[in-house]
Amino acid sequence: MKPKVAVTRKIPESILERLREKCEVKLWPEEDEPVPRNVLEEMVRDADGLYCLLTETVDDALLAAAPKLKVVSNMAVGYNNIDVEAASRRRIMVTNTPGVLTETTADLTFALLLATARRLVEASDFLRQGRWKTWSPMLLTGMDVYGATLGIIGMGRIGEAVARRAKGFGMRILYCNRTRREEAERTLGAEYATLDELLEQSDFVVILTPLTPETRGLIGERELGRMKRTAVLINAARGGIVDEDALYRALRDGDIWAAGLDVFEEEPVKPDHPLLTLPNVVALPHIGSASVRTRTRMAEMAADNLLDALSGRLPAHLVNREVFER
Ligand code: DGY
Repeated sequence: MKPKVAVTRKIPESILERLREKCEVKLWPEEDEPVPRNVLEEMVRDADGLYCLLTETVDDALLAAAPKLKVVSNMAVGYNNIDVEAASRRRIMVTNTPGVLTETTADLTFALLLATARRLVEASDFLRQGRWKTWSPMLLTGMDVYGATLGIIGMGRIGEAVARRAKGFGMRILYCNRTRREEAERTLGAEYATLDELLEQSDFVVILTPLTPETRGLIGERELGRMKRTAVLINAARGGIVDEDALYRALRDGDIWAAGLDVFEEEPVKPDHPLLTLPNVVALPHIGSASVRTRTRMAEMAADNLLDALSGRLPAHLVNREVFER
């Protein structure tokens, strides 16, 4: 008998085919609409495996509704949508998709940094709205990126990939991280700093740390108050790391200069969110890893993880290894 697998969104057909060869697949077939909670609960009731996205909340209650579940395969590197502790308690493996999205996400992070520094969205709107009357010395002037100081909060794979790009822009690179990254210090000239030092000295503060209980609300009023008035904040990690009310006030009052946001506390962010009323915010709909190649590779990797777990092999990207070893 084939194992039963719940897939919570339309994924590339070739990958679905691979899953169907080995499993009985229940699919939520929509592309633009997340699976409703009650449907998801029904889908996992007799499932051996769950293939899901970061839009699904996989909490203890959902796991309790899935007594046969052996693996939750998340098509994302971040897994803050999953209660890993609860999964481990229930001996359910949790897998993710690290590595394949590193460079694509670093590209987007740097693009967002450049767009925010040089006011690209505002400038493009200005032109399209017919407001461009003449070349003017201080018209739409932004902040220099070349030679500026970059502060990276969270020096993991993506942080390092951003630092490599920053090196090409002649930037001084500061970073803060739970552990020191001596290799990055040697090869990229990155300097280890405390959070406060980083905030006080950086022209660009880039958040790339995972969302955990420790990083939730890491950047609030106090931290924004330590940044330069000319500084730019970029968040390409998770919305919950930044206190959005405090960020709104800091941007509105000119306490910091601008923000580039690919992520929000609540996604999709409501179009009338106060942050979206500010001209000094560049906002994107969580597209860090969104290239055709990378999203396809993430979908494949999530399928590999799922199939390995269901056939008793150690999945390549197991978050809670203790479950396999027990
Ligand atoms: C992830 O993988 O965690 C990103 O946020 C989406 O690619």
